[in-house]
Amino acid sequence: MSNEEKKDISVLLEENRVFKPPEELIKQTNVKKWMDKHGIKDLDELLEKSQDLEWFWGEMAKELVEWYKPYDKVLEWDPPYVKWFAGAEYNIAHDALDKHVRTERKDKVAYIFEGEPGDVKKWTYGELYTEVNKLANALKSLGVKKGDRVGIYLPMHVELPIAMLACAKIGAIHSVVFSGFSATAFSDRLNDCKAKVAITCDFFYRRGKKVSLKKQADDAIKNSPSVEHLIVYKRTGDEVPWNEEKDLWWDEITKNQPAECETEKMDANDLLYILYTSGTTGKPKGIQHAHGGYAVGTAQTLRWVFDLKEDDIWWCAADIGWVTGHSYIVYAPLILGTTSIIYEGAPAFPEPERWWSMIEKHKVTVLYTSPTAIRAHMKLGEEYPQKCNLDSLRLLGSVGEPINPEAWIWYHKYIGKEQCPIMDTWWQTETGHFLISPLPITPLKPGSATKPLPGIAAEVYNEEAEPITNAGGNLVILKPWPGMLRGLYKDPERYENVYWSKFPNTYLAGDVSRKDEDGYFWVQGRADDVLNVAGHRIGNSEVESALVSHPKVAEAAVIGKPHELKGESITAFVVLKKGVEPSDDLKKELREHVGKEIGKIARPDEIGFVNDVPKTRSGKIMRRIIRAKAIGEKVGDISTLANPEAVEGISEAK
Ligand code: PRX
Repeated sequence: MSNEEKKDISVLLEENRVFKPPEELIKQTNVKKWMDKHGIKDLDELLEKSQDLEWFWGEMAKELVEWYKPYDKVLEWDPPYVKWFAGAEYNIAHDALDKHVRTERKDKVAYIFEGEPGDVKKWTYGELYTEVNKLANALKSLGVKKGDRVGIYLPMHVELPIAMLACAKIGAIHSVVFSGFSATAFSDRLNDCKAKVAITCDFFYRRGKKVSLKKQADDAIKNSPSVEHLIVYKRTGDEVPWNEEKDLWWDEITKNQPAECETEKMDANDLLYILYTSGTTGKPKGIQHAHGGYAVGTAQTLRWVFDLKEDDIWWCAADIGWVTGHSYIVYAPLILGTTSIIYEGAPAFPEPERWWSMIEKHKVTVLYTSPTAIRAHMKLGEEYPQKCNLDSLRLLGSVGEPINPEAWIWYHKYIGKEQCPIMDTWWQTETGHFLISPLPITPLKPGSATKPLPGIAAEVYNEEAEPITNAGGNLVILKPWPGMLRGLYKDPERYENVYWSKFPNTYLAGDVSRKDEDGYFWVQGRADDVLNVAGHRIGNSEVESALVSHPKVAEAAVIGKPHELKGESITAFVVLKKGVEPSDDLKKELREHVGKEIGKIARPDEIGFVNDVPKTRSGKIMRRIIRAKAIGEKVGDISTLANPEAVEGISEAK
């Protein structure tokens, strides 16, 4: 970006400029058409009327999903437990697949897959349906039944949605683990939910290399006795280690299966999946989502926020291993009958313009990505998007972390050509779908996720549970929403404590936010000890536990530092065991150890050896103080610490 442009940005920010979507665009949106039909004159009226949750979500369900048996009640709220569409019989696989193959959507492309080497394969809804049925039948033949858990460890291949849908179809609960996570992380998650079957692939392509996921899956399964079988999808066909007792090739077990499989009729509130996410303790939380409400919530938010229509080409460039991919690559787009992109590889590989040339080639109309990805492209330079024709784009999106106004402006200018509104969507693994986000009719302020969506009630509370304006406070959700989590897997106590104990009957998001005088939300970051690295949540204590599990480490304190590209970077202060000599080699070894325990994404960027870490008298590590010291901020009163001298040690870390 030139100096001139930087100046433009500062002027723009000082003016607090609002970007108003053009009238022409507003008129054509799904939301505006719906408002016209219901005699609703403007956004404020829509937001107000939609606070009648039973009416609003009942209407949405009518338009989006098909029940086997209708519900008795839209909402049963017994805080903190909810039932949406209580009494309905349902299966999300029906809306994602079965209903389409009865119509001409059968031959519509559901997924355009592009492999990193450049191979492209298009999957129609009909083809997807058949492959899901075959795998569902194969799972049944292995004894997988309704309620059983299946662990899935696959990268960005269409076989991942196929595996998820095959589970949903037979009523099994899937637990997908991000393919960038380590064998240990996969094994821990398999063990927590006692998965009966696991699914992986031989290899996948990443930055020109073949990554052997099968090998990692083997390492995991060695320590996961509940897993009876490992199904292996063949991506490259290269040789892999094989366990005759447990391993099964995907193509072999599906080959002779019938192409039809009856969809299990579930209670709308039965579980669809578990997805683990980091919390403030070392043990990840198993977030549970159910079929019915989740289907309505994800599909509704996608159709209004990203305004998807029949001929759109939708690219949510997240990984399916995270909630963004679960909701907005798999379930919502399929329910809406959308065509989506699935890309296997690294963003700027082999050329920096890879993404932009894919947009040109596949005529992508809506792109949804993270601020980290935008900043990385910004660093590479605007000459790369400028080489490609991006005229097909009409809307852009952002998720995962606050978007800094510089990145917002760059995205708007060089990707959207100042024609595409940017939907900055705030949500979480727990929420299942967007809760605070603009609609394409909403005036935008760069850096703000704007307002709670229709049918959502959010506030910023001070410590006394009073709504506050223009000051940082607790982001809370006041009423239930359809995609809300259904507790934590086998841990109701933690569920109630983490989310519902601070304010009565109110969901605590764990984020700090400010609400301005126009009611716009400015989410600033986590309020708790959870890091946000490149839009991904990692618990400080998770990294600390990984470090302490190394035989040479006595103690560790992990903090996040502001980082130009990733939002936050991980810094660890490590106390070594007696007699262990600090060295650069040991730093490397510890980094790799964390990579092995959790995954590459959690490896500390910096490690400093110290004699002690500051602690309270009760032994709690004072991360806030360590962070302030490490980034040169005011440390405040340290007289109550058990070891105040350790604070100075932080700046002397070696
Ligand atoms: O801190 C918020 C941040 O990401 C957290 C949720 O992380 P996760 O469950 O991994 O889901 C990420 C994708 C939905 C939130 O608590 N976050 C997410 N979106 C935004 C955001 N922070 C600011 N602005 C956003 N748009």
